[in-house]
Amino acid sequence: MAENGNGGGAVWLLTGCSTGIGRALAETLRDEGQRVMATARTVDDVRAVADGADGRIAVHALELTDEASIGAAAAATLDAFGRIDYLVGCGSTGLVGSVEECSVDEMQHLFDVNVLGTHRLIHAVLPTMRAQRSGHIAILTSKGAFQGQPGVAGYCASKAAVNALLEGLAIEVAEFGIGVTIVAPGLVRTNFHAKASRSSEKRMPEYDASAGVTREYINSPYPPEAADAHSAARGILRGLTAPEPPLNLALGADAIDMIRTKMAAVEADLARFEQVSVEVRPVAG
Ligand SMILES: NC(=O)c1ccc[n+]([C@@H]2O[C@H](COP(=O)([O-])OP(=O)(O)OC[C@H]3O[C@@H](n4cnc5c(N)ncnc54)[C@H](OP(=O)(O)O)[C@@H]3O)[C@@H](O)[C@H]2O)c1
Repeated sequence: MAENGNGGGAVWLLTGCSTGIGRALAETLRDEGQRVMATARTVDDVRAVADGADGRIAVHALELTDEASIGAAAAATLDAFGRIDYLVGCGSTGLVGSVEECSVDEMQHLFDVNVLGTHRLIHAVLPTMRAQRSGHIAILTSKGAFQGQPGVAGYCASKAAVNALLEGLAIEVAEFGIGVTIVAPGLVRTNFHAKASRSSEKRMPEYDASAGVTREYINSPYPPEAADAHSAARGILRGLTAPEPPLNLALGADAIDMIRTKMAAVEADLARFEQVSVEVRPVAG
């Protein structure tokens, strides 16, 4: 667990604490004696987390599409606790629809929240973490960031973009003593399906067998194998506070399965067409 100069537990800035994994993580950290800035779009949705925490939990509004609101939440974290040891981004939105059904406006909003929102968060904490010469940035993406899925390809693309952003960032900030973790949940029982089930406005019967099936699945109750949000939160805590936190942290056996299946499929394609690939080379001198 990160130490800090003014006593108490490490300081965590969390997004998406109104419900789901973010809420479970805020409660878990509170119960572990950590200091937390728990944020949500509507601050009233998160106040209850601070009950009985003796000032170790502060709350603030944070909207991922609004740079000023993110800056204000980061500043409030410093005012309350004097440092930021961990940023954990749990806030995110979804979109259900085939690639053809999803409009450019719908995709723009998705990327504004999930990708640019992550970029805004990183901007808000890096000056503090660089000055501290310590800190850890973890963003929840998805097993779908590793393998695009029909009906949620846009969502998966937004999560894959965050994966790539974090992979590059990890190398850039290592020399400042800052760590980075891509947290890839599998299926977790939260409010996400209800919210992510916001569908593309356009519906095309041509996609009933692909995106339509996903739409139906997302509108159904979670299956029994969906993981519990508090067990996901404990996984995040264990991963991020390990002596050497990983760059990639999968949450759930289904997440591991999907990522391994993807890696094997990529390897199989590379091997099958290796001859074609290696014949792409500089002009012979
Ligand atoms: N549950 C799963 O099966 C699953 C699987 C893979 C990945 N994930 C990822 O896990 C993370 C946590 O999701 P969850 O499952 O806990 O879902 P959740 O219960 O729906 O929580 C999502 C959180 O994101 C917040 N949010 C949405 N739009 C926002 C915005 N524009 N600005 C700031 N916050 C915003 C929501 O706040 P409001 O209450 O204000 O809407 C909510 O607190 C997400 O990144 C999600 O993509 C979840």
